Amino acid sequence: MSSNTEKPRILTGDTPTGQLHLGHWVGSLENRVKLQDEYECFFLIANMHAFTTRADKPDEIRRSTLDIVKDWIACGMDPEKSTFVLQTEIPGIAELTWYLAMLLPFNRVMRNPTLKTELEDKGLGDSYSFGFPMYSVGQCADILIFRPELVPVGEDQLAHIEPCREVARRFNQLYCGVNPHTDDDDYVKEGGLFPIPEGKVGRVARLVGTDGKLKMSKSLNNAIFLTDTFKKIKKKMGGLYTGRTAMDEPGDINNALFDYVRAFIADDERIKELEEAYSKGDNIGDGHIKVEIAQHIDKLLEPMRERRVPFEGNEGDKKVLEILREHTRQANNAAEETLYLAKQAMKLDFGKRTLMFE
Ligand code: TRP
Repeated sequence: MSSNTEKPRILTGDTPTGQLHLGHWVGSLENRVKLQDEYECFFLIANMHAFTTRADKPDEIRRSTLDIVKDWIACGMDPEKSTFVLQTEIPGIAELTWYLAMLLPFNRVMRNPTLKTELEDKGLGDSYSFGFPMYSVGQCADILIFRPELVPVGEDQLAHIEPCREVARRFNQLYCGVNPHTDDDDYVKEGGLFPIPEGKVGRVARLVGTDGKLKMSKSLNNAIFLTDTFKKIKKKMGGLYTGRTAMDEPGDINNALFDYVRAFIADDERIKELEEAYSKGDNIGDGHIKVEIAQHIDKLLEPMRERRVPFEGNEGDKKVLEILREHTRQANNAAEETLYLAKQAMKLDFGKRTLMFE
């Protein structure tokens, strides 16, 4: 868990609506693992957001909350270095959401392309809850309450970072007297409470699923999960359709198969070799490449399986809960400090309070 240091901060997180997969790994998890030493990291389980579309499934949300923490630890996010935050136990987030909601025009919130896509993809029609679009304001509060400089996310989440930056500027201008012509980098120096945080997308912005067409996603049934066995990985890779039929048929190295080659084979020489042979149709089958990719993915997941072992089963659940409780208490210190300063700036400092978390 991070202690109070002078390192710049990171905040990012996941909604507990299912297991994490390779798309999450290349899009965001890998960055989180890499940046843990350089930054003071807060990683958030957005369990309140899970209720925006699954209010009728509290058991599933609870299960997924614990499983995501297990995925995190497995992939190398280290509870000794970083702080894992349970959103529903940080009341300051819900409070800040209200204040920020007053600074974001309703139409601006509804214009968010990620929100719009979600409404369509999830078939929410016009019967979605009030809380659904509210989550995007909530996401601004998730981020700003920790005053981070960096937010490592998958590409689809950038559309949420933008209103967060807008509302941070607005707050700083309105309540901290910062000049609107200030450069984003200078807001804190000029007396603003909130840094203007930047999104950071991983090395593969958008990993195609094993259907070879759509973005990898649990709900599209085209995902390789961090918990998959070699056998499963091989089977899923095997199903990736390219349309190529013979070993001597020249292939297109911009197809989905080669997205995987470049995403999961770390050796540049080997990538070049495969690209050359494939584009010429030089005695190379899709099947061989698929097995080779599956082996590399398996090698990536192997240490993750090992790190997961101590957290299996009920005993593992208990350990996860202990971590979440302890870390969330620490996170509340940071969150309460920001909230106090925000309310002070808004002339709402009527007294300090102490949160108890038993
Ligand atoms: N909306 C994000 C997702 O579904 C999860 C999330 C919630 C998040 N709050 C956040 C990500 C704050 C980054 C920062 O993936």
